[in-house]
Amino acid sequence: MSAMDSTLRTALADKAKEITKRELATYAERTASSQRANARARKVLPLGVPSSFQAYDPYPIVVRSAHGPNMTDVDGNVYTDYDMGFGALFAGHQNPLVRAAIDTQLGEGTLFVTPCESNADVAEMLAARYGLPMWRFTNSGTEATMDAIRVARAATGRDKIVKVEGGYHGHHDEVMISMKPSLDIAGPADAPFSVPASAGISKKVLSDTIVIPYNDARALERVLKSGEVACFIVEPVMENIGICLPDEGYLREVREITEHYGTLLIFDEVKTGITAGWGGATGVVGVTPDLVALAKSIGGGLPIGAFGGKQEYMDLITQGKVIHLGTYNGNPLCMAAAKAVLSQVCTPEVTAEVIARNGLLVNAVSEIIHDASLPAHVVQFGAKGCVTWAEKQIRNYRDYKASDFDLAFAQWIHGINRGVLLPPGLDEQWLISVMHTDADALHYADVFESFVQELTK
Ligand SMILES: Cc1ncc(COP(=O)(O)O)c(C=O)c1O
Repeated sequence: MSAMDSTLRTALADKAKEITKRELATYAERTASSQRANARARKVLPLGVPSSFQAYDPYPIVVRSAHGPNMTDVDGNVYTDYDMGFGALFAGHQNPLVRAAIDTQLGEGTLFVTPCESNADVAEMLAARYGLPMWRFTNSGTEATMDAIRVARAATGRDKIVKVEGGYHGHHDEVMISMKPSLDIAGPADAPFSVPASAGISKKVLSDTIVIPYNDARALERVLKSGEVACFIVEPVMENIGICLPDEGYLREVREITEHYGTLLIFDEVKTGITAGWGGATGVVGVTPDLVALAKSIGGGLPIGAFGGKQEYMDLITQGKVIHLGTYNGNPLCMAAAKAVLSQVCTPEVTAEVIARNGLLVNAVSEIIHDASLPAHVVQFGAKGCVTWAEKQIRNYRDYKASDFDLAFAQWIHGINRGVLLPPGLDEQWLISVMHTDADALHYADVFESFVQELTK
């Protein structure tokens, strides 16, 4: 698409602001109980939420129940959920097979702190999908990336780690760096500064995390040359800035460069996971990392994480050199859910079907954008997709920052008032779950079309 004429761009921005203003008033009218619930919660919870990611302006909707592809808020509004627990609910809300497995396990106990047979069942299933032989369980994606990094440091005897700018890998200190840095302090695009994302991160931790741009193999090579880097942790496809795909050959080069410098490659597949395909993004891109971190979609909505890797690295745990602990690790309830997800719900056939269903939505939205000549495009990865408000595909965090946040917010607030549930802005993507029908998937396109009609009127 040709570069947009600036008058047209200004007209769209003005219209987006007008839509936002009106829709904010509508939002306030239809979510009065959410507003009250949020005001009450703010007195006892910072921002009124249990995780700061759940806070957004003007205030988040407060949910009472969820089933299949739907959620109902405390005002009784029903939404088609496209967020699906930040992508955790690939199986859908209350998937009957997951629910049956949990119900059965509830009758048999929820926590043993001694192994259960399903630990090995789930590890075998992950090994088959990811082509990596050894696994350990955690309770979240944060723990999975934290433990994988510890293994990498132990394996190499090195302290430093490398991550990409704009990448999110959980809330432990060493990766809460340059998550979404403000550009005035982020440094040069090709050699970004390491910017702490939170107060409370020590200077020592900060100095051990090196930040590079995504899709830049030369930048990776430059920082690995020192021989001090334990690991490069990266999402094979970035899914916290919409969806940012790797350039052709980038991940293969990353694999070669990390191998050359004795740096371990960690794929953070907490978000891509089994929504990317049966074998995760690892299977889709055809590059095998040394270690992989998982969570979200493997657990059917229960809190679970996992990390797995090549024998020689996971053997460090076997040998007692790396200590990996956790009271709730591999608890039978989460294992029951994961086993149902991995073996009964998200089979190869069902995964392929859902990805094809997502293709229907991607095509429908792409057509709307094309017909209206909008400065936007759609990106698909597996069962996920997103509208990115930029003419050209984004390749890294700096491109993402140049996309149009006003248009994205207007689309979001317009959508939520019409039952399209997603977090605001450009960070997240939609997920079509196993429980979305074609009509559920295409509801997003219908609402998007009405937004575009108004935007271009
Ligand atoms: C790519 C990625 N890694 C790690 C995490 C952390 O996972 P959790 O929230 O389960 O700790 C997230 C969470 O959104 C994520 O998106």
